Amino acid sequence: MAISRATTDKVKDRADIEEIVSDYLPLKKKGQNLWACCPFHNEKSPSFSVSPAKQIYKCFGCGKAGDPIQFVMDIEGIGFNEAIRQLAGKYGIEIEEDQNVTPEDIQAYNERESLYIVLNYAKDFFVNNLQVEEGKTIGLSYFKERGFTQEIIERFELGYALDGWDYLLQAAQASGHSIELLLKAGLILQKEGDSTRFYDRFRSRVTFTIHNLGGKPIGFGARLLTQDKKQPKYINSPETEVYHKSDILYGIFQAKKSIREKDNCYLVEGYTDVISLHLAGIENVVASSGTSLTENQIKLIKRFSDNITVLYDGDAAGIRASLRGIDMILEGGLNVKAVVFPEGEDPDSYARKVGAAAFSEYLQDKAQDFISFKIGLFAEEAAKDPIKQADLIKQVVSSISKIPDPVIRTVYIRQSATLLEVDEEIIQTEINKIFLKSQKDRQFKEQRESTATFVEDLLPVKEEAVSHKMLIAIQEREMLRLLVNYGFEMVSEELHVCQYLLQEIEELEFQTPLYTKILNIYKNALLEGVLPQPEYFLQNDDAEIKKEVIHMITRKYELSTLWESRHQIFTHHEADDLAKTVYDSILHLKKKVIKNMLEEAKTKIKEAESEKADEAIINERLSVYMELKKYQVEIDRQLGIVISF
Ligand code: UTP
Ligand code: MN
Repeated sequence: MAISRATTDKVKDRADIEEIVSDYLPLKKKGQNLWACCPFHNEKSPSFSVSPAKQIYKCFGCGKAGDPIQFVMDIEGIGFNEAIRQLAGKYGIEIEEDQNVTPEDIQAYNERESLYIVLNYAKDFFVNNLQVEEGKTIGLSYFKERGFTQEIIERFELGYALDGWDYLLQAAQASGHSIELLLKAGLILQKEGDSTRFYDRFRSRVTFTIHNLGGKPIGFGARLLTQDKKQPKYINSPETEVYHKSDILYGIFQAKKSIREKDNCYLVEGYTDVISLHLAGIENVVASSGTSLTENQIKLIKRFSDNITVLYDGDAAGIRASLRGIDMILEGGLNVKAVVFPEGEDPDSYARKVGAAAFSEYLQDKAQDFISFKIGLFAEEAAKDPIKQADLIKQVVSSISKIPDPVIRTVYIRQSATLLEVDEEIIQTEINKIFLKSQKDRQFKEQRESTATFVEDLLPVKEEAVSHKMLIAIQEREMLRLLVNYGFEMVSEELHVCQYLLQEIEELEFQTPLYTKILNIYKNALLEGVLPQPEYFLQNDDAEIKKEVIHMITRKYELSTLWESRHQIFTHHEADDLAKTVYDSILHLKKKVIKNMLEEAKTKIKEAESEKADEAIINERLSVYMELKKYQVEIDRQLGIVISF
C-alpha cells in the first residue's frame, strides 16, 4: 500500500546522503564535497560527488543526480516506495500506510501482495519437498548429480514439485489460499471441460524459482527429469500481474551486485547455465530463459552496467537467429561482447567439463567484440563469394550504425575496415547512407534527449513546432540557470542580476510549463523579500523541479561544447562578466522567440492568401511580419556585436 506522507517525511528528514552513499562506496573528502568513482558508469578517476551541505549527489561524468532517496532508487534499481521502505528499515522508522488511497489502489495493491504471498508459499512448498522422501530421492539427487551444491540450491531456492495431481493445490487451500488466487498466480490449471476441477501446473519436476529484482518469487520454471520426448522439457509460469516475462531476467536478483562490481553482465540462455556459472564462481550472469532479448531486459541490465557479454552455445544456426539481440544491445547504448562455445557445448556443459578455473579463463580469452564476432561468423562463406562479402559489410555496417555514441562508432568503423580489408571510407559511406535515411528521426530524437526533462510537454505537437518549442525551452532553461546560480550577485553597483534579468524578460512569457513554474517560484520568493540562493530550490517538494535545479546548479561550471556550438549557450568564464553573460542570454532567448513568431506570422499570411482574404487583412499581417523582421535584424546585429569578442 502507499506509504503515508508522514513516514516519507520522517525518512527524508533522517536520511543523510553521506551516510547512505558510504554504505555503497568509499567516499573521499576534497574541498566541501566528498568524491568517489561513479557507481553508475565505468571510470577510473572520481567524478561522482556528494554534497553533505546540499544533501545531494551528482556525477559529472554521467549526469546522474538527486537526493538520498533517489540514490537508493538508482543504486538498488528500485522504485520510490521500495526505497523509502528500505531506508525506514535502516533507520528504524515505523512505516505508516496511507489511509488516503482509493479503493482501487488498495485492491490492486492487495491483489499483488496476495500474489507475492501465494507465490512465496509455493516456493516454500517446492523447496521443502526436497526434504521429503520423494523429493530427496528424485529432485535433490538430480541436482546433486549436476553438481549443484546445497548453498546454490538455497541461494536460488530450487525445489521439487511432487508426482501427483494436486499436492500444491491441497496444501495451499488448507493454508487458506483461494483457488482464484492460485489460478491468478499461474500455479494451478482448470480441468478441461470441468470448471469445478483444478490441478497443479507443475508436477513431477524440479523447480527453478524466478525472482524479481527485490528477491521476491514471481514465477517458476520446472524441468522434466526424464527423457520423455512427448512432454516439454520446461514448463514455465504464465504471465501474471507480477510476472512480466519481457521485463525480467532469470538470476538478476542474485547477480545485480556482482554485475555492478564487475561492470559486466554475462547473458546466457537457460536456468542451468546461470547456476553453473555461479558454481564456477561467476555471479554476474543472467538468462533470457530461452526467449529473445527485449528492450526492457536490456534496460534492466543497464541499471547496473553498460557492458554485456553474450555467451553462445556452439551451434551456428542458433547464433545467427539471435544476432538481432546484439543490435538491440548496441541500440541501447551498451557495449557488447560475445563468447562462442565449442560445437555441441553450452555454458553449463562446458563449465562442468573443464572446471571453474579453465572456464573463467575461456571467458577472458574468447570474449570478442561484436565486430570480430560478426565477421568471424560470416567470414568463411564471404571469402569465396563476393556477394556474401557485400552482405557481410552491410551486416557489420548496420550494427555499427546502431551505436549512439559517435566516438565509439568511429573506433568500430576503423576496426571493421581493417578486419574486412576494405577502405574506411567505404564503411563510412555505407553508414552515411543509413544515416541519411533516418536523419530526420534521429535529429528529432537527439533534440528530445538533450532536453529530456520537458519532453512530455512537447510530445503532442507537430515535429516542426517541436523543434521551435525545443529551442525556446533550451533558452528559457538557460535564463533560469543564470537566475538560479547568479541571481543574488550584482551586475552593477546597485543592480542584482535577478532584477536586471527579470526586467529584461518582463514582456516575454515563458512557454515551457516546468520552467514557468521555476520562474514563478523565483518571482514569489522576491515578492516575499527573499533573494534566493541556489539551495532555496532544494527545499521544494516537486521532484521534477528539484532535479532540474540540481542540474542547473551542478552544471554551473561545466563546459559543454555541444551546447555551446549548437545552442550558443556559453558556460565558461560566464561568472567573470555577468552582465554580458546575462545580456547575451536574453538576446538568444528573444531571438528564438522572434523566430517562432515569424514562423507563425508567415503561416498566417499564407492562410490569408489561400483563403483569398481581404487585402487589408493581408496587409496588416504583412506589416506584423515586417515589424518582427526588423526586430530580428536588430537582435542579430546586437548578437553580432556581442559575439564577436
Ligand atoms: P535448454 O534446452 O538449453 O535448457 O533451454 P537448459 O536450461 O540448458 O537445461 P539443461 O541444461 O538441458 O538441463 C534453454 C532455456 O530455454 C527455456 C528455459 O528457460 C531453458 O533454461 N526452455 C527450454 C523452455 O522454457 N521450455 C523448454 O521446453 C525448453
Ligand atoms: Mn543446458
